[in-house]
Amino acid sequence: MCNNDPDRPASDAVDSPERRGRFITLEGGEGVGKSTNLARVVAWLEARGLEVVQTREPGGTARAEAIRAQLLDPSVKEPLDADAELLLVFAARAQHLARVIRPALARGAWVVCDRFTDATFAYQGGGRGIDPARIAELEGFVQRGLVPDLTLLLDMPIEAARERLVERGGAPDRFERERGEFFTAVRQAYLARAAADPERIVVVDASRPLAQVSEQIRGILETRVAAWR
Ligand code: TMP
Repeated sequence: MCNNDPDRPASDAVDSPERRGRFITLEGGEGVGKSTNLARVVAWLEARGLEVVQTREPGGTARAEAIRAQLLDPSVKEPLDADAELLLVFAARAQHLARVIRPALARGAWVVCDRFTDATFAYQGGGRGIDPARIAELEGFVQRGLVPDLTLLLDMPIEAARERLVERGGAPDRFERERGEFFTAVRQAYLARAAADPERIVVVDASRPLAQVSEQIRGILETRVAAWR
């Protein structure tokens, strides 16, 4: 894309070969242990002296977090149209990319993000039934070629994940209130994406004890980090 706009942020440099930081995302359904493993990924990278920006989607900036609150709020009775949901997700993403992700990568920081666009293909694509080709159009428009370098997909059967969610307690958000078929479709969409792009998306069996899951993730990171240097 030609950039004739002098006001365009310098952070667009992330699209150029000068980009130095790496972009790692964690994905998976509800209750698969993403938060715990994300914290371990961040700690492991920081222990290697890397600057790490830990963030999440939807969210990661004040405005994007406001969109997140709108997306997750179960109390508004008016149903949210699937296309409106999709556009809100990408609106939050555009803001997050502009304010946090691109600037961080451009200055050489590593970004570790709790969910990204694979979640859109899984939830809005698989779960809501939106044509993945339309999601891909928005992906191209908003991301302009920026995709994660590595995605760890924490996978486990949805029944077991739901049990974990119930154990965790708290009021379910708008997505957590969905029925079993929704989560089955989300899981299938995630696994299909991993099968189509196994180099970037590594599936981790999250039904095992946490220590084993974390150990596998550490091994994956070690291999990737060594290859990237
Ligand atoms: P979290 O509870 O893992 O933080 O994620 C918030 C919810 O947002 C989760 O139910 C999945 C959903 N979501 C989408 O539907 N599409 C997306 O693109 C993203 C990033 C999240």
